[in-house]
Amino acid sequence: MTLEIRAVDPHDEIGLRAWWEVGHAATRERPGTPFPAWEVSRTALPAANPERDTTLVGAFDGDAMVGAALVLAPLKENLHTCGFDLYVLPARRRAGVGSLLLADVEARASALGRTTLQCEAYVPPGRTGPAEQFALARGYAVASREGFKELALDEYAARRTTLLADVGSRADDHRIVVFDTVCPKEHVESFGRLLGMLISEIPLGALDLEDSEWTPERLRAAEERLVSIGRHVLTALAIAPDGSVAGSSDVRVNDADPTHGQVGITLVDPAHRGRRLGLALKIATHDLVRATYPQCVSVDTCNAEVNTHMNAVNEALGYRSIETLLELQKVQPARG
Ligand SMILES: CC(C)(COP(=O)(O)OP(=O)(O)OC[C@H]1O[C@@H](n2cnc3c(N)ncnc32)[C@H](O)[C@@H]1OP(=O)(O)O)[C@@H](O)C(=O)NCCC(=O)NCCS
Repeated sequence: MTLEIRAVDPHDEIGLRAWWEVGHAATRERPGTPFPAWEVSRTALPAANPERDTTLVGAFDGDAMVGAALVLAPLKENLHTCGFDLYVLPARRRAGVGSLLLADVEARASALGRTTLQCEAYVPPGRTGPAEQFALARGYAVASREGFKELALDEYAARRTTLLADVGSRADDHRIVVFDTVCPKEHVESFGRLLGMLISEIPLGALDLEDSEWTPERLRAAEERLVSIGRHVLTALAIAPDGSVAGSSDVRVNDADPTHGQVGITLVDPAHRGRRLGLALKIATHDLVRATYPQCVSVDTCNAEVNTHMNAVNEALGYRSIETLLELQKVQPARG
């Protein structure tokens, strides 16, 4: 078999569809909703992203694409890193396709001056799988171990009254504000300050990542892109008595496939913890999803196994672990 590795133009819909088919087929064995619907990829992948450069790569056997990769190079911070996903058709595995693609991805990262490579592997809870074995055999190490969980929104609805009673009046001096994607003007600056805490506040294991700065301009540019691709970030903010943003949580839903949502960022400022704000924020976002998208049946989330507080909140909401997510990392020597 002679394989050729080459970039795939996301604006060429036939090529993009072939790339999507490989990713879809390579993840079909996993539980839950492991790969975006075609309409979501078709809309999002060709759209320019101010946050990162995206490159699609295909491994071709003649005209047939048998493997695919997604290469993500952050543009605002973490300029030493490069993230990627690899997909090989099930029928073409253990024949070196993944290794060839990985070599191409690593060469691209190196050409961009990126020395820390990061990828994710999903395995059944408590077990190993091909993605982990492949990455370990290629010099990657597990930097963080996370639980990947799914919530049936019917299950959440059945628990809602108990959850509200648990929040009680402990967060009554804070007010919850909800919005769809575009943050109200009066909260933008303070919301940006909270987001800047993310990297130092979430357990990241050994992942080599640095803090980010969220100016109002950066937030607005990110929101604009989301609006343009029909991706809704249904957000709840906890507003402290002095008007500052003390916490936030969000669930993301795509117009192109509103049957499933994904939790994005959840963060409560350390100065405001211990009031059940985390739970109150999540109730607000899950309520908003149910009200806005009655057709949405499930939401997924992912937290480090060591993140006991967030895990307790998610368990109370009804989230169930469906997979273990391994954050894998390899640091390459810089080119001389
Ligand atoms: C992970 C994946 C990309 C590997 O693709 P592949 O084409 O089978 O990889 P290769 O043939 O180049 O395998 C190279 C080495 O990885 C390891 N490996 C790959 N699959 C393995 C498996 N099922 N069990 C044990 N080791 C495995 C072996 O060391 C293998 O070398 P060997 O075949 O000489 O023993 C493929 O299984 C896949 O698409 N999985 C679903 C998507 C995914 O999880 N991607 C994330 C990867 S970071």
